[in-house]
Amino acid sequence: MTDPSAYVPGLANVPAAESSVCYLDGSIGKLQYRGYPIEVLSDNSTFEEVCYLLLYGELPTPTQLADFDAELKKARNVKFRIIDLLKTLPESGHPMDALSAAVAAMSMFYPGDHVDDADYRNQCVIRLIAKFPTIVAAWQRIRNGDDPIKSRSDLGHAANFLYILSGEEPDPLVARTLDVALILHAEHQMNASTFSARVTGSALADPYAVASAAIGTLSGPLHGGANEEVLRMLQTIPSKNPGAVRAWAEDRLARKQKISGFGHREYKVKDPRATILQKLSQQVFEKYGSTPLYDVAVELETQMEDLVGQKGIYPNVDFYSGILYDKMAIPTDLFTPIFAIARISGWLAHLLEQLGGNRIFRPSQIWTGETDRSWIPPSDRR
Ligand SMILES: CC(C)(COP(=O)(O)OP(=O)(O)OC[C@H]1O[C@@H](n2cnc3c(N)ncnc32)[C@H](O)[C@@H]1OP(=O)(O)O)[C@@H](O)C(=O)NCCC(=O)NCCS
Repeated sequence: MTDPSAYVPGLANVPAAESSVCYLDGSIGKLQYRGYPIEVLSDNSTFEEVCYLLLYGELPTPTQLADFDAELKKARNVKFRIIDLLKTLPESGHPMDALSAAVAAMSMFYPGDHVDDADYRNQCVIRLIAKFPTIVAAWQRIRNGDDPIKSRSDLGHAANFLYILSGEEPDPLVARTLDVALILHAEHQMNASTFSARVTGSALADPYAVASAAIGTLSGPLHGGANEEVLRMLQTIPSKNPGAVRAWAEDRLARKQKISGFGHREYKVKDPRATILQKLSQQVFEKYGSTPLYDVAVELETQMEDLVGQKGIYPNVDFYSGILYDKMAIPTDLFTPIFAIARISGWLAHLLEQLGGNRIFRPSQIWTGETDRSWIPPSDRR
């Protein structure tokens, strides 16, 4: 019989895999991909290089990176029938649902052999990373009645996404800012969507089904959906005045409401990604002018530290990302799809690792129901 004391809600601190993809020590805010500190990667790498590192475990040589980059660029376009599929979806729907539908459909458009086949797996990996931005940008244009824009092979992953979203070549600072934001969101150990990806992958489902399952998990407001919530929440704070911000936070805490963009299962200090994103935001604001929401956010961080800092509740990655994307004129409901554009690389790195030593996930449970009940005829039921 299972020991009831073994049950851990949310599986907090329960290892679900052995992994060498991402190292995280939340007590001191240390985050590393394949052993490389996130601060070093965000200063020196591109998103494409980080994808390669996550997937294959090593930084690429210049030739390896050029080949990988060329493969991604070649795979950016999506089949016109997937575009047709997007056109049939209601414009009022959430872009995460559109992304999920299009990615799930990819299984039918790109049928292949078993995931045991390395070539098939690699093609899926390239297609998924390359096509996520194309699908998200196409959906944004289709729902506004515009035609999707063809990708440009002279632009990197982040810059091309901004180009196919708006039709305008982005300023290099803006493109690099998004590139770094993608690096910061690319991977984060055994979070809910990555766990979903590993569970689905462990059943040997195809990588499109794996990605679609993970997109569904990421869409939740306790996970990726929080970045959208942060922006909406900041817009409800009446002013950046310390007294007003504190009163707003105290009221929310008194009503036991969570404050979006704060708290993390792993971090008990400020999320290192929030620190990097905040610096990036400052650079963008210096060039393009600040936004009142940023001042409110900084004040909220100060007040929250005083109110709940002792409980280890500090800003997480979602706290500053929304303000930054908003300044880049990206619609709020695209924030989580942008998270997915980045995180597909981490999901796939975990999928490859899972398949490398697979055993299907099949946890146990603590039984809390009754057993051996007698069937009662409908007329005798109370
Ligand atoms: C991320 C999150 C889901 C982690 O959840 P968790 O590890 O299960 O932590 P819990 O929800 O059990 O919270 C533990 C304590 O901190 C408090 N807390 C956690 N996050 C909080 C927040 N954002 N605002 C206010 N209080 C918070 C809880 O109320 C709880 O307090 P209690 O012990 O007095 O009841 C949670 O912090 C949260 O909901 N944050 C807001 C959503 C968000 O930003 N998500 C993005 C994560 S990257």
